[in-house]
Amino acid sequence: MPKQEDKMEKVVNLCKRRGFIFPGSEIYGGLANTWDFGPLGTELKRNIKNEWWKRFVHQRKDMVGLDAAIIMNPKVWEASGHVAAFNDPLVECKKCHGRFRADHIIEEELGEKTEGKSLEEIDGIIKASEFKCPNCGAVELGEARQFNLLFKTFIGPTEGSKSTAYLRGETAQGIFVNYKNILDTMRPKMPFGIAQIGKAFRNEITPGNFIFRTLEFEQMEIEYFVKPNEWEDNFNIWLQAMKDWLESLGVSPDNYHVREHGAEELSHYSKKTVDIEYNYPFGGFKELWGLAYRTDFDLKNHMDKSGKDMRYFDQQAGEKYLPHVIEPTFGVERTVLTLLLEAYTEEEVKSAKGENEIRTVLKLDKKIAPFEVAVLPLSKKEDLSSVATKIFQDLIQDFRAEYDETQSIGKRYRRQDEIGTPFCVTVDFESLEDKAVTIRDRDTMKQERVSVEDLKNVLKKALN
Ligand code: GAP
Repeated sequence: MPKQEDKMEKVVNLCKRRGFIFPGSEIYGGLANTWDFGPLGTELKRNIKNEWWKRFVHQRKDMVGLDAAIIMNPKVWEASGHVAAFNDPLVECKKCHGRFRADHIIEEELGEKTEGKSLEEIDGIIKASEFKCPNCGAVELGEARQFNLLFKTFIGPTEGSKSTAYLRGETAQGIFVNYKNILDTMRPKMPFGIAQIGKAFRNEITPGNFIFRTLEFEQMEIEYFVKPNEWEDNFNIWLQAMKDWLESLGVSPDNYHVREHGAEELSHYSKKTVDIEYNYPFGGFKELWGLAYRTDFDLKNHMDKSGKDMRYFDQQAGEKYLPHVIEPTFGVERTVLTLLLEAYTEEEVKSAKGENEIRTVLKLDKKIAPFEVAVLPLSKKEDLSSVATKIFQDLIQDFRAEYDETQSIGKRYRRQDEIGTPFCVTVDFESLEDKAVTIRDRDTMKQERVSVEDLKNVLKKALN
């Protein structure tokens, strides 16, 4: 296996080379902290989102889905506290005008956590420590000030405070503002949850570490509404559900842990938060997903500011109350990155000539691999490719399949290993006679001869 620090570079290279992820706007020199998902990355991401939706929406009777607008009335972001409190401390270099997260500079230079420190305290440390600018090296960092992460935009032809709108900083608010619509139309019984997958936007100024921190990213979020005195049990149940899903995707318990936020570190809406942190090759354990107890903070503020009654009427108890909220939140890009890192494997194998060589394999879980099976005719000759095409046409009715007839069979196996395809089906000249094909297993590289008639059943069994 490659060393941790090399692994990141290797995964980034593989992503580019094999069409998973490209730098954003690359032909114009890129744009910091933006990335585009290529054909295979798109499939991987879609499979992850589908798995999440299946597990947390379709397979539960206490959950419904939602797809709210990205641009909302700016009053939403005032009521939610994001306009006032969704801030990071920032410093600017007076010489090169580079801007940096003040807390990150302190953490990196002094190894000191800054959560809970006031802006004045952070500024005091910056001034006293005479840090060099991370960009130009000058000791001329200015005063630390708050920097709001919401992206601003303007609606209509004029720019100004009257037309200001925000790109949503979290998908959660779309859920809170529709909570009453869902109560009225779906008549859910407490406890119940609303799930949403969609883009969120943050004006991040720190280095992104590939797709770990980007300006726009997708969130898979659940707001789970509970009776106020039942929040703790539900919190623990959700934590277990998150861990179970992570492990079902193939992440080893050795590579992640759960960390609770200190009181000073909590977001403005949270009374208790735990992060599921993964051991990334850049700087160790960092947040992959989060689980927050948001109390009735959001519903209460929206009720106050909109004047709409958000209370739930509990028929059995004959009482009205504002439910409390447990929020499991999952970043899609961080999930993609984590699963790629976890799956990336290098193995020493013997080549056809008997020499030692390195085989790179993405041991992605079969549920989320871009393709489940690849159909590879041994040659491009018409009699073989017509049989292989027929097999492929049949397989795509039930499987995520790819057809590839370019390059040597060795190179094609290598490519399928690198993109994580669990099974390759090879159609050779014998297939024309015996109506059978060879199935090759990605992980064991074992090959098995299977009749074309049985192929679908064999694959179905192997993929489950
Ligand atoms: N609604 C709660 C919320 O937004 P958060 O911890 O700020 O909480 C949730 O974000 C998740 O979104 C994180 O756990 C992470 O997976 C992902 N995330 C946050 N900021 C991100 C960024 N700049 N780039 C990529 N993913 C990000």
